[in-house]
Amino acid sequence: MDSDDARRMISRTRDRVRERMGLQGAGHGWDHVERVVSNALVISADVGGDRFVIELAALLHDIGDAKFHDGRERSGEFSRQILLEFGGETDVIEHVTHIVDNLSFRRRHDARPLSLEGKIVQDADRLDALGAIGIVRTIEYGHSAGRAFYSSEDVPTTFDHFHEKLLRLSESMNTEIGKRLAKEREQFMVEFLERYQAEQRIG
Ligand code: NI
Repeated sequence: MDSDDARRMISRTRDRVRERMGLQGAGHGWDHVERVVSNALVISADVGGDRFVIELAALLHDIGDAKFHDGRERSGEFSRQILLEFGGETDVIEHVTHIVDNLSFRRRHDARPLSLEGKIVQDADRLDALGAIGIVRTIEYGHSAGRAFYSSEDVPTTFDHFHEKLLRLSESMNTEIGKRLAKEREQFMVEFLERYQAEQRIG
């Protein structure tokens, strides 16, 4: 496949993903995908990897998110269909599908080892759960799940979720640059949570 074909394939995939995910809630739709692609390319500029595979996998990584498909994760299956339809080569299809199938947080205990390209996309996805964007996404998600942000009672809150999940993510980053970017974003979240608690005490 020459570079024109590769560009065409990326642009068709991009259009298809935007069309399918455009209506999904902010934070889990097209806006998230665009940020993951851009994070992945920043990381790749530092650590290398095959940019074609990285961009395709980043575009497709949430195409069949379980939240929107009756609890069944279908991203790998949909990725395969889309890449086949656009005439992708077998090794590219296998590689991208393997990445999409194995990068999610839910699968961290039984996931198969990721390639360099997969590690890059996973870091890019995790980065989008952190920092200012991570704060907004987490609050919106908690709200849609009917969870309070904060409570003096012993109930699950979004505030606890930050500590249980998000503030551990930087430890699990694959690349050095991913870890550095994650630490910066994590620091901002810690400051936000401290400030929230301080204001809570005054009020
Ligand atoms: Ni994602």
